[in-house]
Amino acid sequence: MTVSGTVRVPGDKSLSHRALILGTLADGESRVRGLLDAEDVRSTARVLTALGASIDWNDGDARVRGRGRRGLRAPRQDLDCGNSGTTARLMAGVVAGHPFAARFVGDDSLSRRPMKRIKQPLEAMGATVELERGDGLPMVVRGADLHPVVWTTSIASAQTKSAVLLGALVAGIRVELHEPGPSRDHTERLLAAMGARIAADGGTVILEPEAHLAPLDMQVPGDPSSAAFFIALALLRDGGDVELLDVGLNERRLGFFHVARRMGGDVSWEAMSATAGEPAGAIRASASPLRGTTIEGHEVPAMIDELVLVACLAARAEGVTTVRGANELRVKESDRIATVVGNLRAIGVRAEETTDGFVVEGSQAPLSGLVHAGGDHRIAMAFGVLASVPGNDIAIDDRSCVAVSYPRFWDDLARLTR
Ligand code: S3P
Repeated sequence: MTVSGTVRVPGDKSLSHRALILGTLADGESRVRGLLDAEDVRSTARVLTALGASIDWNDGDARVRGRGRRGLRAPRQDLDCGNSGTTARLMAGVVAGHPFAARFVGDDSLSRRPMKRIKQPLEAMGATVELERGDGLPMVVRGADLHPVVWTTSIASAQTKSAVLLGALVAGIRVELHEPGPSRDHTERLLAAMGARIAADGGTVILEPEAHLAPLDMQVPGDPSSAAFFIALALLRDGGDVELLDVGLNERRLGFFHVARRMGGDVSWEAMSATAGEPAGAIRASASPLRGTTIEGHEVPAMIDELVLVACLAARAEGVTTVRGANELRVKESDRIATVVGNLRAIGVRAEETTDGFVVEGSQAPLSGLVHAGGDHRIAMAFGVLASVPGNDIAIDDRSCVAVSYPRFWDDLARLTR
């Protein structure tokens, strides 16, 4: 059975969080169109509002009243970040630069995720971060008058980098950051678009102190991580093609599309516009026979959220696919190395865990069984794509968890495959 159609995927999640946060820290009113309306972004809006922000959000169009660089107030209650690591880590940076304390809480999955990675740099800058259970949430961040820092991280993490940049921005101090590899740079691009003096080169970022940020006026492009599911769908079906419009084409997010091509996939993209320094355009794919590949650690940051989907493509590719240097997968919304390999095996695929990745052997045999998503949205969606390949008989235990990043995923999938 073939698949064909055009989809406009919802707004980019990383950019949506940042537009709300940076709009709040600006002077004047920001206008953000195409904001992702999903639980994770709602978590950021809720936390900002609890700190005194004013966000008027209707139908993907938000007006954010800027409170200025250091204009938030102490919250009256715990800050509930739901399932969202981006909310917890970026907002910890924002609070660290303010003269008050806040306690961050979240759901069971988020409570287990590492927070030491932000505690270390934020404390080196002068804040106090108390991890009540040794790591994870609950976490109490006590803000202070921060001082400049030169910091080297041991992992490429945009959330850790952004926590430091936001703390420095609020505090009006200089920071210099070095990462082992370049992680996504949306915070840097938005800051530059708002007039901040920020210089970035590979894994190094330097932010100079700035008294004021200009407001944002932007259209959030579609999320390439959401687009990736339909690109995979087009590649795996028997024929036809899919076109995705107005998708973010920031090179640091395109790793999946490059790898899909390397696996033999007919995938192409073309930038047509840019907003707040972020390129956007169309991505197209059509049915293609795939072959296995090897993904090394240096490729991981640009496709960290899509590796689950690579595993699902690998299940239908000729030969073996190996992913290495992806330890970070163990601390996402689930331990994605364990969940993806466990579920591939449950539906009849030969797959092995390694400490820092996985090995998957592809085949064309029909796949069947029950997938346990473990509350992880990307597991549910990636296996949802495999479930819609003709001949497979795959059920997913919890389809509702997609609400954190792509609430209408199942409708868009059904529309394309009917
Ligand atoms: C994100 C960064 C990545 C990514 C996450 C969103 C962001 O996490 O996996 O989904 O918006 O900064 P890390 O920063 O932990 O790599």
